Amino acid sequence: MVGGGAREHAICEAVKKSKDVDLFSVMHNRNPGILKLAKKAKIAKETEIDKVVEFALENEIDLAIIGPEAPLEAGLTDALIEKGIKVSSPTRDAARIETSKEWMRKLMEKYRIPGIVKYGVFNEIEDAKDFIDLLNGEVAVKPIGLTGGKGVRVYGDHFSSAEEAVRYAKEVIEKRIGGFPKVLIEEKMIGEEFTLQAFSDGKNIYPMPAVQDHKRLLPGDKGPNTGGMGSYSCEDGLLPFLKKSDYEEGCFILQKVIEALNKEGCPFIGTIYGQFMLTAEGVKVIEINSRFGDPEAMNVLPLLKGNFVEICLSMAEGNLSEKKIDFDGKATVCKYVVPEGYGTKSMENVPIEVNEKGISKTGALLYYASVNLKNGKVYTTKSRSLAIVGIGENVYEAERICEKGLEHVKGDHIFIRHDIGTRELIERKVKRMKTLRG
Ligand code: AMP
Ligand code: GLY
Repeated sequence: MVGGGAREHAICEAVKKSKDVDLFSVMHNRNPGILKLAKKAKIAKETEIDKVVEFALENEIDLAIIGPEAPLEAGLTDALIEKGIKVSSPTRDAARIETSKEWMRKLMEKYRIPGIVKYGVFNEIEDAKDFIDLLNGEVAVKPIGLTGGKGVRVYGDHFSSAEEAVRYAKEVIEKRIGGFPKVLIEEKMIGEEFTLQAFSDGKNIYPMPAVQDHKRLLPGDKGPNTGGMGSYSCEDGLLPFLKKSDYEEGCFILQKVIEALNKEGCPFIGTIYGQFMLTAEGVKVIEINSRFGDPEAMNVLPLLKGNFVEICLSMAEGNLSEKKIDFDGKATVCKYVVPEGYGTKSMENVPIEVNEKGISKTGALLYYASVNLKNGKVYTTKSRSLAIVGIGENVYEAERICEKGLEHVKGDHIFIRHDIGTRELIERKVKRMKTLRG
């Protein structure tokens, strides 16, 4: 297992649950949850390809799973495959679906995949300005490459005029935010977001329950975008505002993306992640990721009844079948505990008191994220600290269990979005979608 966040902790748990396997971990931090599950752990940056490959060879690894996107972009999958190791994550070329938003939009256009929006990619600010003006400033301004979910700015949320959009677009080009001297401008979509993750063996997708992530830092979905503050899923695999036909439209789009990647000569092996906007005109694509979502992995993996290791092996071997996949019909709510100041300036290296036994008694699940274990104590880093997941017959029961679990996490400098999964927030979304759909 490569990666040391809460998503990776959840993946490790799914691995340990499925078979009597030895788990080996490479991560940049000392994640207490993964340290407990792994037979051996190496502390190294996930993008240090040589070190990861060496560790894999030393320990005669049969199957590698890569959690985060950065090592995919660095070509870790390719390097491991070259050494004869099976990998249930995409190659560098297949991962371009996430690592280049320009490539993703062009692929959708080339293969006429539904769910595309008006967009343009620009090197020159004058051209970007013309396009922004054409759309009356009602745009999303996006870096092309990876920014950890923090590089996108949207009209009405982060700026309110064409001038401000142009100013940020200029900054993206000049400072090469996201790694390229270019900017992607998209028409602003209006609606509710949902995530659809699916296993892919390179030919077909096998979808998981839908999830709604909350990317904005503050209650009521306000403030800057973050890596994700929490998420929920429902017992029927849909969401309170999402109909079966919308879900199926999302699946159709992901299947078309998989087929397009195959035709491009870079079949996609692993978990594919669609971030969609449900609009008045139907389902649109916000982004496609080449891995599990974080936090969304924590909503779906605890519900997986099939054997996760076997699913991963089948993906790597290109022969997954529906028979292997089954999810519990339960609802989940996941809330992240983050350091105070997260999103602007995190309080780093402050202790968090985590009463593991207390959490366990409530029935909630605990997933450690970017924390460090030092002398038996848990300390924050810049990023998200840990996640608590409640599972229940419906989302409100799951929310209550999640909150019970959170009572056993204490710290003077932590922040939690307690509104996630509450009736008030969810009903507001349902109402808004009803109004939009007319
Ligand atoms: P991304 O990193 O592309 O997922 O964008 C981060 C967030 O920005 C998304 O979760 C959306 O909330 C928002 N966003 C991105 N693109 C658009 C768009 N074209 N219209 C409206 N909101 C968007
Ligand atoms: N939850 C957003 C992401 O994983 O990209």
